[in-house]
Amino acid sequence: MSHTEPVKVEVGLGDRAYDILIGPGLLSGAGTEIADRLPGTRAAIVTDENVAAAHLETLKAGLEKGGIRAAVITLPAGEKTKSFAHLEEVVDGVLAAKLERRDVVIALGGGVIGDLAGFAAGIVRRGMNFVQVPTSLLAQVDSSVGGKTGINSARGKNLVGVFNQPKLVLADTGVLDTLPIREFRAGYAELAKYGLIDRPGFFAWLEENWQKVFAGGEQRTEAIAEACRAKADVVARDEFETGDRALLNLGHTFGHALEAATNYDGARLVHGEGVAIGMALAHRFSARLNLASPDDAERVEAHLRAVGLPWRMADIPGELPDAEALLGFITQDKKVSRGALTFILTRGVGQAFIAKDVPPSEVLSFLKASHPNGSR
Ligand SMILES: NC(=O)c1ccc[n+]([C@@H]2O[C@H](COP(=O)([O-])OP(=O)(O)OC[C@H]3O[C@@H](n4cnc5c(N)ncnc54)[C@H](O)[C@@H]3O)[C@@H](O)[C@H]2O)c1
Repeated sequence: MSHTEPVKVEVGLGDRAYDILIGPGLLSGAGTEIADRLPGTRAAIVTDENVAAAHLETLKAGLEKGGIRAAVITLPAGEKTKSFAHLEEVVDGVLAAKLERRDVVIALGGGVIGDLAGFAAGIVRRGMNFVQVPTSLLAQVDSSVGGKTGINSARGKNLVGVFNQPKLVLADTGVLDTLPIREFRAGYAELAKYGLIDRPGFFAWLEENWQKVFAGGEQRTEAIAEACRAKADVVARDEFETGDRALLNLGHTFGHALEAATNYDGARLVHGEGVAIGMALAHRFSARLNLASPDDAERVEAHLRAVGLPWRMADIPGELPDAEALLGFITQDKKVSRGALTFILTRGVGQAFIAKDVPPSEVLSFLKASHPNGSR
C-alpha cells in the first residue's frame, strides 16, 4: 500500500455532489472512506469472477478496517452479464443479505459491473446508497463517473436503466496492474478522448507521457484525475445529456456502428477499440468536410498507432460489411433526426463540436473511401 495522498475530484451536483478519490492503495482504505460518508452502513459487494480473484479479499479486508461487513455477489465476467437475468440475481442477493435502504451496494469491477450494480442499487427498495470501485481503466476514466447505469436489451445496448449518482468513487490506480493490456489500451482511448474534445494541452501531455501512464505511478494517477475532472465538469453542466454531455460521444457513432458490424464480438473489437477507430474517423471526416486540417487527423492516428490501438477499419480482423451496411448501422443508432445525422466533429485537436446536420450521403462517400475494400 502506498502512503501517497489520493487526488480528490468533486462532482458538483449540489446535494448529490460526491468525491472521486484517485490513487494507489485505495481498496485497503475503503472502509474508512465509506464509513466517514455513510456511518453505520452494511454493504453488498457486486463483482465479477476475474476481479474477485485478484482484488476481492483486499477490498473485504479494507472494509472490515472501517467496521463494514459485506455480503458478496460474484457474477460471470463480460458484456452478457448486463442482462435482466443478472439484474434479478443482484437484486435478490441484496435482499437476501437483508440490506436496507440506507445500506450500500458496492460495485467492484469494470463498466459492466458498475452499470449493472448501479442500476440494481437504483431500484432495490426504491433506491439504495451506491459506491463505485472501478477496476478497469475505462471504468476509472468514464463509466464510474456521471451516474449513467443500466443493462442491455435484446433490442440494443444500454436501453434499460436509470440515472443514479454514486455517493463515492474509489479509483484505485494500483488495481490496473492486473488488467489485461488489451483492456488497458481500450480504456486509454477514452482517456485520450478528453484531450481531443476540449483539452488540447492534455492531449499533447499524453503524447509525451503515455508510456509512463501505462507503466503506473504518478503520471497514471494524474492522467486519470484529469479525465475525471473533464468528465465531472461535463456532468455538472449537463447531468441528463440535454446538451454538452453529447460531446463525450466523440468517436462513438462510428465506433458503435463498428461494434454492431462485428456482432459485439470482443475477440474482434472491444468498445474502447471501436472508440479509437471512431475518433480517428471523426477527425478524418472533419478534414474531408474542410472543417479541420488533415494534419490533425494525422496526429490523432499517429498517437493511436503509437500506443498500439487500432485506428482504421482495416485494423479489425475479419471481413467487414460494406459501406452501405455500415451506414445502416449508423442510421439505426439513436442520434438520427429527420434524415440528418448528428455527429461529434472537430475543428482540430481539442475543438470538438456537435454537428446536427450531417448529410447521410457525405457519410456514405466517406465510409466508401475509408473502407478496407475501398479506394483509400
Ligand atoms: N455508464 C457509463 O457512463 C458508461 C460509459 C462507458 C462505458 N460504459 C459501459 O462499460 C462497459 C465496458 O466497461 P469495461 O471495458 O470496464 O468492461 P468490463 O467490465 O467487461 O471489464 C473488461 C474486462 O476486464 C476485466 N477486469 C476489470 N478490471 C480488472 C482488473 N483490475 N484486473 C483484471 N481484470 C479486470 C473484467 O473482468 C472484464 O473481463 C460497457 O458495458 C459499456 O456500455 C458505461
